[in-house]
Amino acid sequence: MNAVLSPSAGVSAPSWVKHQKLIAWVADIARLTEPAQVVWCDGSDGEYDRLCEAMVEAGTMRRLDPVKRPKSFLALSDPGDVARVEDRTFICSAKAEDAGPTNHWIEPATMRETLDGLFTGCMRGRTLYVVAFSMGPLGSPIAHIGVELSDSPYVAVNMKLMTRMGRAVYGVLGTDGHFVPCVHSVGKPLSPGEQDVPWPCNATKYIVHFPETREIWSYGSGYGGNALLGKKCFALRIASTMGREEGWLAEHMLILGVENPAGEKHYVAAAFPSACGKTNFAMLIPPKGFEGWKVTTIGDDIAWIKPGADGRLYAINPEAGYFGVAPGTNEKTNFNCMASMRSNTIFTNVALTDDGDVWWEGLTKEAPAHLIDWQGQDWTPVTAAATGRKAAHPNARFTVAATQNPVIDADWDNPAGVPISAFIFGGRRSTTVPLVTEARDWVEGVYMAATMGSETTAAASGEQGVVRRDPFAMLPFCGYNMSDYFGHWLTLGDKLQAAGAKLPTIFTVNWFRTDGHGKFVWPGFGENMRVLKWMLDRIAGEAGGVEHVFGTTPRYEDLSWDGADFTEADFDRITSIDASAWKSEIALHTELFTRLQHHLPEALGRVKQRWSERLAA
Ligand code: OXD
Ligand code: MN
Repeated sequence: MNAVLSPSAGVSAPSWVKHQKLIAWVADIARLTEPAQVVWCDGSDGEYDRLCEAMVEAGTMRRLDPVKRPKSFLALSDPGDVARVEDRTFICSAKAEDAGPTNHWIEPATMRETLDGLFTGCMRGRTLYVVAFSMGPLGSPIAHIGVELSDSPYVAVNMKLMTRMGRAVYGVLGTDGHFVPCVHSVGKPLSPGEQDVPWPCNATKYIVHFPETREIWSYGSGYGGNALLGKKCFALRIASTMGREEGWLAEHMLILGVENPAGEKHYVAAAFPSACGKTNFAMLIPPKGFEGWKVTTIGDDIAWIKPGADGRLYAINPEAGYFGVAPGTNEKTNFNCMASMRSNTIFTNVALTDDGDVWWEGLTKEAPAHLIDWQGQDWTPVTAAATGRKAAHPNARFTVAATQNPVIDADWDNPAGVPISAFIFGGRRSTTVPLVTEARDWVEGVYMAATMGSETTAAASGEQGVVRRDPFAMLPFCGYNMSDYFGHWLTLGDKLQAAGAKLPTIFTVNWFRTDGHGKFVWPGFGENMRVLKWMLDRIAGEAGGVEHVFGTTPRYEDLSWDGADFTEADFDRITSIDASAWKSEIALHTELFTRLQHHLPEALGRVKQRWSERLAA
């Protein structure tokens, strides 16, 4: 860590920073925001330790018990800063139509004026950290670099876990490499002598993207995707616009490897909305009856996918860590995840046990007799039963480096990426959508992904549990017009097919159908392996299924039930297709398409027409 300078004297960068434009930009931002000092992060373990220690002293984090949870910390956020703020997230393209009806748009010059006002002097009394990071393996042809300037040490340490961050990145950047500039402030300048609060933030929040200039500005929040700008802001919103221009895909997808007992291996990428089990799926342990099968993780949230020289699609995980939802995670639902966070983990907004460890709803069947909850208050199961107060916030998170995952894939850091055999799209739907469906072709698969619906979760502020259309699980993350995004998927498919490539097969899944009492019918978690195997068997031409209006779904006998205890009646309950529910569903597709009619590819309308006709027949 190199603390250099009082900004009024100009920014003097350490000798390993050779990029004059970058240095000049840091100086400009320092002039605007007026921090007390500028620190160039080197990404070393020593720097991480020092920043964590300083945050413990400042009350931002507390050190957990060194035996129970070695080198781990708990941060409790401000109660008003707990999730991504989609209603404060803006795509400021030059033209409103390029942001499209699913994004909030403000004319760029107007937004720049607003930001100028907000950022002027906003880092007074604080340190500006210069955080250079690579999204993807250093130097990979699929990777890209960003530099985040942030006045939050919490952001700096999280970025160390979540990305390849620090000195080595400057080696790749050299004297003139391209980087995405990201400016972040918690929006709480300190007057001389003013006592800081443990979690500084501002009620006014702006998460702003300028796609044409590939810039990100974030103000007022210190939490997750609002503040760790490599994640949703860069790796999805800005990267999706880069991918559109350059012919590749930036997707809200996990990537996993699956190897059968004969040693044959495939990689699949799967898109689910936030807090719908991507981390669990990415770390799945094959169930009883699947001895000899292995599932390994490339990534749990984001995939960057580029066509290789052989025409196949190759994916990397641009991230290097996991920022996962804690509630509901336990040894049974995700053993590997629990193993990943045994040490070296930053927990945010979970509860603290009396012996210095962490707890959240779902970690154990019974809650401890006493806890300090995520708002720093005493909590007992008795008072919780009376008040409904949760010990952990429903969007409480853990941040941990990917290298801690015991089932990390051997190729997770391979600069060439891994070839993708299948794309899977899944929403959270208590009714209507069957367990799994295979699309008959690429266009039908794109249609299925484009019309996906899901019940909302705590990952974003706003009402929970209402079905909203979430095309490709990208609704909050697509940096441009959603219809153009559909068009991009179709064009890429056409191009690759025309060049003779075999495209990945597209499937949709729904793990979340419930019975009449609101209970999930499908056990999910490791049992999802049965569905995964069916998909791979379909790709190999070795599994049956029934073709219906929307594609192909397995019959009970098409899945392997070795070691399982799941009845055919239950299977029918989660694969049945209710024609009247589907008529209503298709009416919602029509509503979506009406909203997205500007540039909506005609091919999607044709699929809808075909489905509607078959449904009517
Ligand atoms: C996430 C999200 O944090 O999707 O991954 O909200
Ligand atoms: Mn996500």
